[in-house]
Parts: sequence; structure tokens; C-alpha cells
Amino acid sequence: MDFLLSTPLPPIAISLAVMFLLGVIFLGKKQNKRYPPVAGTLFHQLKHRRKLHHYMTELACKYRTYRILGFFGYTVYTADPVNVEYVLKTNAANYGKGYYLHNILYDVLGDGIFSVDGDKWRHQRKASGSQFSTKVLRDFSGEIFKTNAVKLASRIHEAATCGKSIEMQVLFLQSTLDSIVKILLGIDLDTMSATNNENIRFANAVAYASGSIIYRVADVFWRIKRFLNIGTEAAIRRNMKVLDDFVYNLINIKIEKLRKSEEQYEQPLKRRDFISKLLEAKETDPKYLRDMVLSFIAAGKDTTTSALSWFIYMMCKHLDIQEKIAQEVREATGLNNTSSADEVAANLTEEALNKMQYLHAALTETLRLYPAVPMNARVCFSDDTWPDGHSVRKGEMIVYQPYSMGRMKYIWGDDAEEFRPERWLDGNGNFKEENPFKFITFSAGPRICLGKDYSYLQMKIFCAVLLTKYIFKLTDETKVVEYRTMVTLDIKRLHVHAFPRV
Ligand code: HEM
Repeated sequence: MDFLLSTPLPPIAISLAVMFLLGVIFLGKKQNKRYPPVAGTLFHQLKHRRKLHHYMTELACKYRTYRILGFFGYTVYTADPVNVEYVLKTNAANYGKGYYLHNILYDVLGDGIFSVDGDKWRHQRKASGSQFSTKVLRDFSGEIFKTNAVKLASRIHEAATCGKSIEMQVLFLQSTLDSIVKILLGIDLDTMSATNNENIRFANAVAYASGSIIYRVADVFWRIKRFLNIGTEAAIRRNMKVLDDFVYNLINIKIEKLRKSEEQYEQPLKRRDFISKLLEAKETDPKYLRDMVLSFIAAGKDTTTSALSWFIYMMCKHLDIQEKIAQEVREATGLNNTSSADEVAANLTEEALNKMQYLHAALTETLRLYPAVPMNARVCFSDDTWPDGHSVRKGEMIVYQPYSMGRMKYIWGDDAEEFRPERWLDGNGNFKEENPFKFITFSAGPRICLGKDYSYLQMKIFCAVLLTKYIFKLTDETKVVEYRTMVTLDIKRLHVHAFPRV
């Protein structure tokens, strides 16, 4: 959604004026049904584009459920858990990604799990869900997260030794990409060390394609530009070629290896990465596997990076909490400040990680206030009426708002805007789950995030290693850290200094 910052205003203003008039004429007809109040237009969203989530939160506080008039009619926004539960669970069959979102995302995600509905979605959810619930993949992932946490610590060590400021979000982006690619394909990209040019080219293409494809939402000419192969569309095509060549090459190598191993041995070779597991389960269509890989990269990389970055920001703002977590990790692992990053990582057993209830609570509290996906959309397939009495029309875009919902006093109480991990702990200091339609950061219902447990595993391992070794402080304490208005809640810049714990 960075398009809101970059699109020239006058043509949009003219289009909107026309759309607004059409909206008033065609949609303003007398109806018996009660529709959500119209709280603004796309003009207002453009005006508040740099602080869009603040603006949407103000509206959500006032109306809970409301409409915004845009290019082609209304978009319905809701921050009401009762409506969110209805859309994502009770009547989930009536809401989906639809033709519109599928079309926009197709060049990158293809028919991957993220952008499809119905049988295509069901098949992939079952196939990937059963792999993601195995101990083999979980153990494999745990090892990868530990290796990358140690690499991350060594990059921080280099900067800390010479007193250099560190851009944490960039480091997290590299380490989460390295992790997810290794889990999916079993190869080391190692973008953190930047040792292989082809891998770096792939990493850059991932960043470009996944970041720019969504700009199509605001560009009514994207199809023409795509047809003519000009502008951003030409760049997307160039980057997609890099992505496709890279991923298809690896998939074809895997298919060939599997075929050979089946010919040579009675039992296929035991491999632990996700795609090898799918191949063993007879999912052998290269296009299906390619769409799966790119969808999981898109789902897992920027989200976890955003969460980790905001967590470090919260730690810098709350040094007492940072210290409390370091102490918890020391107690759970039986180590002290002098232990190396390798030793800390090696001691992060499942049992030790389970003991880190306060760390789990602090990560969840971060995700409540800074949800990696601040707004999330569905298309309404047929006219419907929600539990709060508001009606929605077929074809309307429905947006639920994790960012706003995380800050609502009526959901979280008067201290909703405070960072207070304790709200997630019971009397014994154990983490207590919340209603998933209230804490909606990972979505909920049948399409709840498939990687939720993996992301917690990764975040806990990274944070446990980093916080036992270093104290993090903002490079400029006076600077307010802001978000970028995009699909994920990226931090604009997060510069920190790391000081070794002694
Ligand atoms: C802090 C980290 C993460 C957050 C906040 C997060 C959040 C979300 C959200 C909000 C959705 C729903 C998207 C929608 O309905 O359009 C989702 C779906 C999904 N997530 Fe995550 N995610 C995270 C990490 C991950 C990771 C690490 C993976 C992979 C290992 C992953 C895999 C998926 C998949 C496959 C889906 C699609 C599920 C479906 O449509 O059935 N996520 N995630």
C-alpha cells in the first residue's frame, strides 16, 4: 500500500470525484437494509496516507464498522470481533480472496494457498498443514532458526565491537529469508553473509516482486502496462523471471534426485525440507510446487521480520522488560552472560523454550500493538447481514483491522495502548491464550495462519540468543519510530546500538 504515498494525486482526485458522484447516484438509492455508516472516502485515506492506521483507528473507535467510498464503490471496514468471527468463521464460505485479489497476485503467487479459494485452497491447506504438523519439519526448522540466530548474533557482534549503529530490520529480513528458504527448499541462501551472487539476485527479486505487486490495487492501468511490458510491470516481469528460473531449477533438481533415488534404492532418501516432503507425498507438479514455495516465502518472511523489528523497538523503549527476558532465558537454559551465542542456541531445547512464558507474552503483546498484517481483506460473494445488524453487498471488499483492534479500549480495557506483557499471563505466570477473534494478528477460523507456531519458534530462538548476549538501545532516543503504509507493518528505520551484556 506504499502506492498511497507515491501515486500522483490529481488523476486520482478526478477519478474519485467521478466515482463519488456515481456512488451517490447508484448506491444512495433508498434501501430497507441498514448499511454501515459512510465514514469517509479514498480522498481522506490519501490525505492521511502517511499515518493511515492512526486515521483508520480513529474511525474504528467512532464507528467500529463503517464504509469508505472508493474507486468502484464502498469498502466495508470492521474492528468488531463479532463481525470478524462471522466473516472468518461462521459464514466463511461467503467471503474469500475472490477473482480480484487472485488476479492481482497471480504473477507472483500463482494459484498458491494465499490467493485461492474453494477446492484449490482446501487441497493445499491439507497438503501443507499435514507437513507443517510433523515433528521432522519442526525439528529441522528449529535447527535452522538456531543456526541463523547465531549468524545474526555474529553480525551484531561485529557492529557492537566497533560501536556502529545497526539497521535491525535489514538483518531480520535477511535472516528470515534465509530461514524460510532453507525450510522450504533445503538450500542455504546465506544472504546474511552475501557470499553467492545468484542467491542475492534471487533475494532482491523476492523483495521487489512481493513489495510491488500490490501497487496494482491503485493502478487502474496495470493490465495495459503489463500487456505493453512497460514501467513497474516490466520490472515485475524481469524479477519474476529471476524468481521462476531459480525456484523451478531447484524443484526440477529435486524431482530428478527423487526419481533416481527411487530407482536405485527401495526406500527414497530421507530429506527433511518441505518441498522434498511434498514430493515424497506424490505432489510432483512443478507449477504447484513453485506456487507453494513463493506463497510461503511471501507469508513467512516480511511478517516475521516486522514482528521481530517491533519487538526490538519495544525492548529499547522498556529496558526493564528487556532485562527481565534476559533473566528468564538465563534461568530456562541454566547459562549466564559469559556463554557464547552457540552455547545459548544449543541449550534452547523445547523444554527450555516452553519455560520462557514471559518472552512469549512480550512477543504477543508486541503483535497486539504492531500486528504484522495491519489490515486484511476479503471479498463478499453474496449479499449478507452481519451479527451487528449491518448489511453488506455482493462484490464489496471487506477489511478487518488488526492494528485498530489491538488498540481498542472496549476490547483490551483502559490500558489498551500500553505495552504490558503481563496482560497475557495467568496467576502462575503462564501464558494464557485470548479469543482469536479479539487478538486477530494471525487471522482466525479455517484460514488461520499456518505458520503461527513456526513464527513463535523462530522469534523465541532469535530473541533468546540476542537478548542474552546484548542490551539494545535506540541510536537516537528522541526519534519516534514510524511505520510505512504497506501490506505489512514495516518500520521506517530502526537504528539501534547493541552493548554486550557483562
Ligand atoms: C509473526 C509472523 C506471522 C504473522 C503475524 C502471520 C499472519 C498471517 C495472517 C494474518 C494470515 C491470514 C492472511 C489472509 O487471510 O489473507 C496468514 C496466513 C498464512 N500464513 Fe502467516 N503469519 C506469520 C508468519 C508465518 C510464517 C513464518 C509462515 C510459514 C512458515 C506463515 C504461513 C502462512 C500461510 C501458508 C498462510 C495462508 C493460510 C491460508 O490461507 O489457509 N505465516 N498469516
